[in-house]
Amino acid sequence: CSVEKMNVLLPLLVVGSACLTASSSSCPYPPGRWCSSMESAVQCGVLKQCLESDLFRSRRAADPVQVSLYYESLCPGCRYFLTMELFPTWLLLHDYMSVTLVPFGNAQEKPDGQKFTFECQHGEQECLGNMMETCLLNMTDMAFPIIYCMESSADVTGSLESCIKLKAPELSTDKVMSCVKGDLGNQLMHQNALKTKALNPPHNYVPWVTINGVHTEDLQTKAMNSLFTLVCDMYKQDPKPPECGGPSQRHHRSYCHTQ
Ligand SMILES: *[C@@H]1O[C@H](CO)[C@@H](O)[C@H](O)[C@H]1NC(C)=O
Repeated sequence: CSVEKMNVLLPLLVVGSACLTASSSSCPYPPGRWCSSMESAVQCGVLKQCLESDLFRSRRAADPVQVSLYYESLCPGCRYFLTMELFPTWLLLHDYMSVTLVPFGNAQEKPDGQKFTFECQHGEQECLGNMMETCLLNMTDMAFPIIYCMESSADVTGSLESCIKLKAPELSTDKVMSCVKGDLGNQLMHQNALKTKALNPPHNYVPWVTINGVHTEDLQTKAMNSLFTLVCDMYKQDPKPPECGGPSQRHHRSYCHTQ
């Protein structure tokens, strides 16, 4: 295994160190997908690692901490929080938290016949980015890794296709774009507008975070400073999960030995 292929930011760290290069021709999935089915796990030679991670997952004792992010695609603070706090925390703690993304933020909507028109704080490109991300969230369970990829690239909307190829190659960019341009995207964005308008207290900036449906300035500040610490603190399990510094039980190493 070459070291540069071992991306530390894998959705499943447990399979991150599996040696795949030798048999990669029979594995058509990106690492984030290896454990998504028995078939992909076998094809990619990581069945053992996937089973161990499932075993581990079933030890979850408490309810997951629900983290919701109300944001807009081109707001610098939103991009920073999503890429530097939310996604890395989710990679480490996805067994103990759920993430809900609501792209809309400070946008405005106006009814226009049966549909709605949207105006975004950072212009047309932001509305396009919000719509792409909204459609992804409706169309694939790899939406969060794809959105992370887009938000961490220099050109958020321009990277849609390459991020899909990287994270979910079986997803058709054309299908996503027909959602973006069509009635489905319009309806889904209207739902996001309603969810954003329903916030209590109402948001007066973005990124706006709720934890288990609650927003306070204290929770917001803690989430901005270290979401990882906040989720570990709020996850009611004793002892704490090993990822949070509890007793370590994980046998997740799958080394590639010298021959
Ligand atoms: C996608 O959107 C449609 C239409 O609103 C909805 O019925 C469906 O449940 C959504 N699917 C997901 C996975 O969110």
